[in-house]
Amino acid sequence: MADLSVDLGFRTLKSPLIAASGTFGYGEEFLPFFDLDILGGVIMKGIFREPRPGNPPPRLHETPAGLLNSIGLAGPGSEKLQESIRRLRARTPVPIIVNVCGEDDDEFVAVAETFSAMAEVAMLELNISCPNVRQGGACPAQDAGHTARLVGRVKERIRKPLIVKLSPNVGDIVGVALAAQDAGADALSLVNTFLGLAVDIDARRPVFANIYAGLSGPAIKPLALRLVREVCRKAYVPVIGIGGISSGRDVLEYILVGAAAVQIGTINFREPAAALRITNEIEAEMERLKIGNLSEIRGQLQT
Ligand code: SIN
Repeated sequence: MADLSVDLGFRTLKSPLIAASGTFGYGEEFLPFFDLDILGGVIMKGIFREPRPGNPPPRLHETPAGLLNSIGLAGPGSEKLQESIRRLRARTPVPIIVNVCGEDDDEFVAVAETFSAMAEVAMLELNISCPNVRQGGACPAQDAGHTARLVGRVKERIRKPLIVKLSPNVGDIVGVALAAQDAGADALSLVNTFLGLAVDIDARRPVFANIYAGLSGPAIKPLALRLVREVCRKAYVPVIGIGGISSGRDVLEYILVGAAAVQIGTINFREPAAALRITNEIEAEMERLKIGNLSEIRGQLQT
């Protein structure tokens, strides 16, 4: 039997598959489809202190091999999320990860402290990379200095492992990754969505009110794989690969370039039980390739 467990250094997960923030609701929505405890973790939709309406519709736009979103981090606020987390924990032991957001650094720190104090929460993911909050896609992850200051402040105030989620919309993702690592990130997750544009030719306007939106799905997989490889070559903290994963083979590709684990996102919208299928596919590929544990091939891409 293939052993799917992965070691992040600070914690062992039973599977490399983690449900990505914003594609898996607050976990409860997916309970009817499969046993969530097969996953390495479930990441909640990004959360601020107060409820947020998010961006005006339309918020989603399909492309031939991907999905553009401009949700704007809509959410119920920290108090309601705490209730959802308690309900989810009562129904499954899957590790729960909170995706922490903030309008400014003080809010990031406050939200991180709130969820760090919850026994039900395994880890935090700091969302410094959402491209849909400010026009033009600006976010803290575009600046290594800002990333370092913010990660340092958050780390000082929490007692849970901290994953920092990076943006692909930068000139030097390795520089930002190392800034986050040196400031205390326990792991890095990459990449968030690529900034894109959709045009309505009848209206002669952008499809989205915010003009640009974030592209995810199979279209971004080769781009994301390259960035994950580059960060893995330089960082010593574990990297969680994200971008267009929709099969077991895709997962092995990310592990070969150096990822310790992966997140599955856009596929969850199309196929709610995708994680179950992908888990079976990983096992089948591991048996076919005679891999006992994914650590045997992690970072073993031959060039
Ligand atoms: C959104 O809510 O706009 C997407 C979340 C993200 O990209 O982090």
